[in-house]
Amino acid sequence: MRFILHTYGCQMNVRDSEAVTALLEAAGHTPVQREDDADLIVVNSCSVRAKAEDKALGKLGLLCATKRDRPDRRVGLMGCMAQRLGAEIFTRVPGLDFAVGTRCAGAIPRLLARVLAGESGLLETTDLNEMPDVVEAHTDSGHAAFVTILLGCNRRCAYCIVPDVRGSEYSRPAREILAEISALVRNGVREVTLLGQSVMNYGRTNPVWDASDAPSPGGFTEPFARLLEAVAAVPGLARLRFTSGHPSGVTDQLVRACAALPAVCHHLHLPVQSGSDPVLTRMRRGYSRADYLDAVHRLRSAMPDFALTTDVIVGFPGETADDFEATRSLMNEADFDNAFIFKYSPRPGTPAAAWEDDVPDTEKMRRNQVLLEDQDLRGAAANARLVGTLQEVLVEGPSLRNATRWSGRSPGNKIVIVEPIPGIAAGTLVRVRITRAAPQTLYGDVLPC
Ligand code: 5AD
Ligand code: SF4
Repeated sequence: MRFILHTYGCQMNVRDSEAVTALLEAAGHTPVQREDDADLIVVNSCSVRAKAEDKALGKLGLLCATKRDRPDRRVGLMGCMAQRLGAEIFTRVPGLDFAVGTRCAGAIPRLLARVLAGESGLLETTDLNEMPDVVEAHTDSGHAAFVTILLGCNRRCAYCIVPDVRGSEYSRPAREILAEISALVRNGVREVTLLGQSVMNYGRTNPVWDASDAPSPGGFTEPFARLLEAVAAVPGLARLRFTSGHPSGVTDQLVRACAALPAVCHHLHLPVQSGSDPVLTRMRRGYSRADYLDAVHRLRSAMPDFALTTDVIVGFPGETADDFEATRSLMNEADFDNAFIFKYSPRPGTPAAAWEDDVPDTEKMRRNQVLLEDQDLRGAAANARLVGTLQEVLVEGPSLRNATRWSGRSPGNKIVIVEPIPGIAAGTLVRVRITRAAPQTLYGDVLPC
């Protein structure tokens, strides 16, 4: 079949979609770019907020409606929403051919074969841990790839659906991860982002290193710091990132590894969610405002150029005007480079869903807007401070907006636009002198090597 995948949600879903693409190709199906050309459409879904689910449900409804004119077309669902809704999805989306959950996407070719044999409404949500080895599955265009190192989540943040839909934590063996990254690098990848819900929890809930593995040259005993060191040593890998963080993972060893390993980019996405201690307690985040700021301080003391991005939820049950002001002031103190702001959305089955969603939507919207405006100013100031600095940029290719210019990313994950020089190529690292800054973008000149 000619197929296309639509991916909603986080980077983990992007990675899962790559794996499924590779599997479908291995089963003889062909990826296409345009939905019109596709006989099979799979939606990879996110459940984190009601809006994300509504979007996927709307899309699925439209897709299933097209089956009237195209009786050979098949439509499937994968990811967090399939896991959460289970069989209910087939009443919500009549005509859906199959649905597979988060830890069994490897079942898709098998289910598809049954669908092609005439069955419909097939569901698989058991934890088969069936995500294939997907070394060759890096279908994304660029020289940057995601590698999932930690599945699931053991935290029970009061608002969050993720532990329900992605299951409990499992850390992949280090050896398997290193083999996957070596193969990606052999295939041209220069930058890898290690993925996990609380990525620095890697190796804390199951063993990941064998007695036969080489000892850490830097003396790292914590599994994640040791993994960073080992991945950074993969020949040909230029850059290493990891996401998402939790302040409890900002240990002395983690800070030392980030500072000492040249491949590790000085950037972390460290969701704070709120700056108010009473709210953080009710959210069950496991840290206080002071703990969070201490983690920020330790990272920036060791690496003054360290870029931080974050997630914030506004309008969590019981969030007062004072709580909100505490979040505003924390964001100023932490001096985030970028922030994603979300309006609280009750998720069925989570502890917070039992509490009154008492901040009116208009107030959530107002708080959202205030934080966005603050962040725009802060982000613009952070970028302006970079004018005149030298940044190492991984070149991605011609800019989408203006193809005569080229675009890449700084270690702090900022988009940098440059005038191309002869010989410039995607996937190379170049040194750029920043000459101009806009709130979301840096501009500069490539320096000769
Ligand atoms: N409502 C709003 N935002 C949420 N997030 C997670 N759960 C919810 C929810 N119920 C946000 C958090 C998280 C990001 C991925 O989504 O900020 O870090
Ligand atoms: Fe969405 Fe969370 Fe699932 Fe990622 S893990 S797709 S953010 S619900």
